[in-house]
Amino acid sequence: MEFSIKSGAPQTGRSGCLVVGVYEPRKLSSAAAGLDRAAKGFLTQVVRRGDLQGKPGTTLLLHGVPGIAAERVLLVGLGREAEFRDKQYREAVAAAIRALNATGAEEASLHLTELAVGRRDAAWKVAHAVTVARECAYRFTRMKSKSENAEPALHRLTLCVDRAVMKRAAAGLEQGLATAHGMSLAKDLGNLPPNVCTPSYLADQARELAKRYRMKVTVLEREDMERLGMGTLLSVARASSQPPKFITLEHRGGGRSMKPVVLVGKGITFDTGGISLKPAAEMDEMKFDMCGAAAVLGTMKAVGEMRLPVSVVGAIPTTENMPGGRATRPGDIVKSLSGQTVEILNTDAEGRLILCDALTYVERFQPAAVIDIATLTGACVIALGHVATGLFANDGVLAREVAGAGDAAYDRVWQLPLWEDYQEQLKSNFADFANIGGRPAGAVTAACFLARFTKKYKWAHLDIAGTAWKSGKEKGATGRPVPLLTQFLINRSAQRK
Ligand code: BES
Ligand code: MN
Ligand code: ZN
Repeated sequence: MEFSIKSGAPQTGRSGCLVVGVYEPRKLSSAAAGLDRAAKGFLTQVVRRGDLQGKPGTTLLLHGVPGIAAERVLLVGLGREAEFRDKQYREAVAAAIRALNATGAEEASLHLTELAVGRRDAAWKVAHAVTVARECAYRFTRMKSKSENAEPALHRLTLCVDRAVMKRAAAGLEQGLATAHGMSLAKDLGNLPPNVCTPSYLADQARELAKRYRMKVTVLEREDMERLGMGTLLSVARASSQPPKFITLEHRGGGRSMKPVVLVGKGITFDTGGISLKPAAEMDEMKFDMCGAAAVLGTMKAVGEMRLPVSVVGAIPTTENMPGGRATRPGDIVKSLSGQTVEILNTDAEGRLILCDALTYVERFQPAAVIDIATLTGACVIALGHVATGLFANDGVLAREVAGAGDAAYDRVWQLPLWEDYQEQLKSNFADFANIGGRPAGAVTAACFLARFTKKYKWAHLDIAGTAWKSGKEKGATGRPVPLLTQFLINRSAQRK
């Protein structure tokens, strides 16, 4: 789908379909009222007859509206005007796109981008219209042998804004497109089956991004990691026939001298649990255990596309977690890159084992901040469900910055504590500490484990176990938290100007 922005009154434009909003109860938005005047009160009559109350999610398609050049007019219910906020706006856009896809219109002019949405500016409204529209259009068909039903006709969407905010709208368009493309890459990688999306496949993806956006890429092999002493990462990779990789991707948009933001993504391309084997039900979903890595690659794509003037390093430890004769046993003690020893009491707590070596490795980049992204704990899903990503941080300012970016991106996080008091649960009789801390506060103790490796820089941890993918009928990766991370980096680049 192609997007463009435009200013001007709706009735003057020729269009396949004009999309305007109606608040509840039966109150025309200002664009709808403008159309109504040109149509001599036609829309007023329609809503008076009770065909559209303005309830959220409802739509009404009209043909041959008198006095209007456009072939169709789509009315979209917005709900009550006083309650019209981020969520309602995004849902209205989604309802409009779904209704448009059911028509034969090839092009549509969306006037919803002119609505007041709290204090959101035109850039926000345009960016979110783009990401929502792209989300509605996303299909993962790469592994199907035959193409399914015909594509919808809609392929051009014009986003209408006031003339005075055209410049902000253009910025929003660029941001929305880059975010959508980054999300789409993250979703594709997440949705690919684990026999295709292997550590080597992720490394190839990083190499492709590096080539396309002139970034520096390095891929460490098993032997390199052995030489460095990445004992905890390698302990997870022991029983896999797929070679593990450690990928770094550098975008130096802020120049050589600027300290980078480092994004570390968990890249377990399949998590069986290892010797602490997971139960069979829904184990297929553990192909999504590389969604942290996918979010890093997706964000790097967005950053590259926007040529953001910030320095960003993506770091991805990636391997499978398999059982087998060579596999790590519960009780094994391994030495991490940091020198600290870990008693592995459960081989299914593998994410923290690959992340901790990555978190030590990235010290060499002298990071301005490090954010790791990981489908780390089932406990986080119990705590926050599928709405908020779990946030942990060793720096309050960074935590607020991340949370703010999440709010702006509608990709929200909720902070959980990282207090010393929880560290006790990781005590080991035989090594420096254990890799699990028992059932209570499982998301917190996992973060506490990581905190032992992040003392040298400002660090935030995002547990995306509940937000990276959907289960059930609509099973699939969500592309989160690419919107948050992209927004975070955009904010950082704006601060520098
Ligand atoms: N990848 C899983 C976490 C996970 C589980 C995410 C289910 C989403 C849904 C992680 O590697 C894991 O297995 N964690 C264990 C840790 C436990 C053994 C301390 C868990 O959460 O059960
Ligand atoms: Mn696991
Ligand atoms: Zn895992």
